[in-house]
Parts: sequence; structure tokens; C-alpha cells
Amino acid sequence: MLARDEETGETMTDMLVHDESLGIFVAGHETTARTMSFLWYVLHENPDVAERLHAELDAVVPRDQAPTLEHLKRLPYTMQAIKEVLRLYPPSPAQPRDPTFDQDLGGAHLSPGTYVLLFPYATHRHPEFWEEPERFDPDRFLADREDGRHPFAYFPFGGGQRICIGNSFAMLEAHILTALLARRFSARLVAGHKPEIEMGAQQGGRRAGAPCLQVRKGRNQDERQHHGQVFDDQPADGDATASRLHQAALLQRAEQDDGTCHR
Ligand code: HEM
Repeated sequence: MLARDEETGETMTDMLVHDESLGIFVAGHETTARTMSFLWYVLHENPDVAERLHAELDAVVPRDQAPTLEHLKRLPYTMQAIKEVLRLYPPSPAQPRDPTFDQDLGGAHLSPGTYVLLFPYATHRHPEFWEEPERFDPDRFLADREDGRHPFAYFPFGGGQRICIGNSFAMLEAHILTALLARRFSARLVAGHKPEIEMGAQQGGRRAGAPCLQVRKGRNQDERQHHGQVFDDQPADGDATASRLHQAALLQRAEQDDGTCHR
């Protein structure tokens, strides 16, 4: 709020502070949170993928350590799983555009006032670009399988001039959180609950029923006991404050979770 532009000396107006704050909370928080929610959901639905992801984490991140950048470089499958979640459940499923001049595009005439919606949710499931599009398969994001794919077959972060400025940060954050949390927790869908996704054309927004998950410490009795101690007494060195808060929230849920869907 006190910052000044180096060149012009201008400060931020109240409106700019308002808009920037909203941008960080809505664009920067909600999106990654949704990615993480749907990741736990797909791991529950795809136990073979969960097994591979946990095996990779077990092999790379020591039990009582927070993941470092060096660890992340050796967690490619975890990253592939995050990319695949963003394919099937893009947190920004539709992006509206407002043409400013008359133009022909793909056989359609667009003039100012035409409502245009870019639709990653549908494109990401289009059989022309994706084999068995509804299947959750992180191996789609193996480097050699990405070669030759149309650059806009996959655009969870948008593209062009308005591409997400938090793109790399978000992927790093999701990678760290997955490594940190999946190493210590497992989550399963509350029995009988099916997440519902509602698409709303207005503002390209989505009112999604986030998955209702039951969180458990560790993945078996032994792990639960071990991680319970790590969490309750002393968070591992190097954990970022935000990650600690996530852990604390999960821990609290893990302890209180009675299997009911509270929304
Ligand atoms: C998985 C996480 C994220 C996804 C899927 C995502 C997706 C998107 C998309 C699709 C757009 C473009 C919207 C459009 O073209 O209409 C966008 C823009 C934006 N995102 Fe993200 N985002 C994520 C995380 C973040 C984070 C962590 C930040 C900031 C810390 C952030 C800040 C922004 C901002 C400021 C814009 C507007 C850019 C502009 O218009 O110039 N996003 N995001």
C-alpha cells in the first residue's frame, strides 16, 4: 500500500489495492485449493494411481523431512498427477472474452457484444485431442506423450496476454503440498458422497460441489501412529508457515472427522 512506482512515483489507489487483494485471494488461493481438493478425490477413485504416487514419495522424501526442491525434482509422477487433475478439473473451467472488433474465427463471425467463452473443461475432455478423455491417467504427461499435442489442447492457466501470472508458483505450491501431505495423510471420499460440478456461464464461473473427504493421518496403523507424533509435537524443520497451517487444518479434521459431509 505504501509502494511507489519507481518510474512515475505513483502510489496505488484504494481501488487498485482492492483489486490486487481480490486477485490474490480469488485467483491465487481458491484455484490451488480446488486443485488440491480434486487431487484427493481422484486419488480415492484411482487406487492404482494413489499407490504409484505414494510409492514415489516413499522412495524420495525421508519420513520425517519436509520436501525440498531437490526432492521435488525426483517426484515426476506426482507432478504428472497434478497436471492430470488440472486437465479433468480445471479450477477455471471457462474463460470469457469480449471481442473488441469484428472478426471471423473458425467459421464463426464475432462482433463486439458477442459473448465468447473459452472452455478448457470441454477441450480437456475432447476426444479429438485426448484418448479415453474421461480416464484419469497421469502418464499422459510423460514428456514423449506430450510431444505433438496441440498447444491449446490443454490450457488450465489460459494463454496469450492474459495467461495466469501465478502459473509456475501454483504448480510449485501444489507439488510441495502434495509431497508434504500425501506423505503423511490419506483421504477418502465420505461414503455415498458424489461431488457435483455445476457450470455457470455467467463470468465463466463454476459453482462446484467440492469433494467431501475424510482425512486420515498416515496410510496404515503404523504410519498413523508415527505421523501423529510428528504432527502433534514438532512440525518438521523447514516447513513453510502456510504448509503448517494446511497441516494443522488437516490434522484437526483428521481428528474430528466423523465421516459426515459438512458443507
Ligand atoms: C492451479 C492454480 C491456478 C489456476 C488453474 C489459474 C488459472 C488462471 C487462468 C485460467 C487465468 C486467465 C483467466 C482469463 O484469461 O480470463 C488466470 C489469471 C490470473 N491468475 Fe491464475 N491460476 C492459478 C493460480 C494462481 C496463483 C497462485 C496466482 C497468484 C499468486 C494467480 C494469479 C492470477 C492473476 C493475477 C491473473 C490475471 C492475469 C491477467 O489478467 O493479466 N493465479 N489464472
